[in-house]
Amino acid sequence: MNDFILDNGLSIPAIGFGTWQIPDGKPVFDAVTTALADGYRHIDTAAAYRNEAGVGRAISENALERKDVFLTTKLWNTDRGYDAAFKAFERSLELLQTDYLDLYLVHWPANSKQFENWKSINAETWKAVEELYRQGRVKAIGVCNFMVKHLDALKETAEIFPMVNQIEYQPGHTKDDVVAWCTKEKTLVEAWSPIGSGRLLDNALLKEIAAKYNVSVAQLCIKFCLQRGVLPLPKSATPAYIKSNFDIDGFTIDTADMDQLDTLKNEGWSGLDPDKVDF
Ligand SMILES: NC(=O)c1ccc[n+]([C@@H]2O[C@H](COP(=O)([O-])OP(=O)(O)OC[C@H]3O[C@@H](n4cnc5c(N)ncnc54)[C@H](OP(=O)(O)O)[C@@H]3O)[C@@H](O)[C@H]2O)c1
Repeated sequence: MNDFILDNGLSIPAIGFGTWQIPDGKPVFDAVTTALADGYRHIDTAAAYRNEAGVGRAISENALERKDVFLTTKLWNTDRGYDAAFKAFERSLELLQTDYLDLYLVHWPANSKQFENWKSINAETWKAVEELYRQGRVKAIGVCNFMVKHLDALKETAEIFPMVNQIEYQPGHTKDDVVAWCTKEKTLVEAWSPIGSGRLLDNALLKEIAAKYNVSVAQLCIKFCLQRGVLPLPKSATPAYIKSNFDIDGFTIDTADMDQLDTLKNEGWSGLDPDKVDF
């Protein structure tokens, strides 16, 4: 599986290991250590996951060199704004035991439900992220959960455009308007909850199509993202699943089955609309 290439030329390994809801300490240390042993070279965490310390320890105690692991973390909503963003970045680096990040993402847009001045809050936060990039503290920068409305607004003031937009994306929930926008602007789309946080695992259609290719439902969902040009971030704390989720080179989903997967309208969706959330 080939890396994706970001708009600034940076190579990003095609499957990232998700770490949301894996507790800090031994659980996340063991999960990340297992993922690295199985060949993952891209780890996705966030300040809000409160497991950056364990992720950092797993990477630094591993035999791999830091440069061989692509590390992403995210700026939480309470750290929006120019000055707060710098402080949040330093705190994350310290916990992660590193002096640079591969990718720094704004976790959620300030939205119009909560803030009248949502546009300027996002613009100020982004200014700090741009500055961190200019200073060479982070190799690539981006956002998460930015819908077309938030992207359009950010474009009015951004000097460097987000290289990544990490959104909820899985079979049947593909936010086609956002993906089209990002494709046009050369912003790579990453898929969070590619397996619908587990909600798609028992789906009858997915089980039927997965059986046809002799793969698991999780492998089918991960491959679906890749075939759509979207970078999947599967999470598991189970060693056998961590391994099999990375082993997806041996099959290709045919066009008819890709279309069938689109018929699962919103069955795996979390229900979170970035413009309506209260956090
Ligand atoms: N930017 C954002 O706002 C945002 C939001 C949510 C998530 N994310 C990122 O996206 C990552 C993935 O999303 P996610 O954690 O919601 O869910 P996910 O990867 O869609 O699904 C994870 C769930 O599926 C199970 N699972 C994984 N592989 C399996 C397999 N092969 N067979 C059976 N069950 C399997 C896991 O169980 P076990 O763990 O018990 O094995 C877990 O319950 C997160 O970890 C995080 O890094 C980002």
